Amino acid sequence: MSAENAIGVFDSGLGGLSAVREFLRVLPHEKIIYFGDTGRVPYGTRSCDTIKKYAVQDTNFLLRHNVKMIVAACGTVSSVAGDLLRDSLKVPYTGVVNPTAFTAARVTRNGRVGVIGTSATVSSHSYRLRLNKLNPQIRVFEEACPLFVPLVENGFIDRCDVIAMATVARYLWPLKDEGIDTLILGCTHFPLLKEVISDYMGPGVRLIDSGLETAVYAAKVLGEQKLLSTRDEQPDPAFYISDTPDSFSSVAKLFLGRNMEHAVTQIDIEAY
Ligand code: DGL
Repeated sequence: MSAENAIGVFDSGLGGLSAVREFLRVLPHEKIIYFGDTGRVPYGTRSCDTIKKYAVQDTNFLLRHNVKMIVAACGTVSSVAGDLLRDSLKVPYTGVVNPTAFTAARVTRNGRVGVIGTSATVSSHSYRLRLNKLNPQIRVFEEACPLFVPLVENGFIDRCDVIAMATVARYLWPLKDEGIDTLILGCTHFPLLKEVISDYMGPGVRLIDSGLETAVYAAKVLGEQKLLSTRDEQPDPAFYISDTPDSFSSVAKLFLGRNMEHAVTQIDIEAY
């Protein structure tokens, strides 16, 4: 395995781009190959068996590109299929749950931590189990926020967007009520709603973004395994999706701040 091979990152759709943005910043010499399963998003409302099947197909696709590491930039896949991928892959793997829970356990002051994610993520209690393994004293309050995903996929993320504001308030009031001081954005779609969420929760609540924590963790793993690239400049990332590129290109441009049209390829993920 060469250190110059790419890092493979995948998500059910656009949300993982929030992680890609952090990977490009934290690992400025790495080539990133991203797969967004835009044809089958959302994953978070599907059964565990279906999520596992999709996760295996997504990683099979990335492995065809000889990636040196696989990153599930998806809270749902990390929660439901994380063990399966970790045990079966021959390259280093990370999801978003462990690095994010680790940071939340470290920064909470009052020991009251909120977790928001998709229905599948919250039903798995993956973040709660991990947090309580790190510190059994932490009180964890979980809330599934399934409507956040279509809001993000459709670009309804502005802090003044009334639909985004109302949806955030509708889901988050119980967590606000519990007096949490730390909120895990347990789905990679959610950092794109960070401003709306932060406006609602107020300055006393620290938001933990899974993309950044995961990028920092991936850098550590690659460093330990002597797999960090030594090239001078960052190659352009490559993007693959399973639906037509139209809306992906325009929304992705918002998140990555660059024109993506030329860099996106549609693939048939069912073939993997
Ligand atoms: N971005 C995915 C996650 O982190 C989920 C969205 C979905 O497919 O439901 O959970």
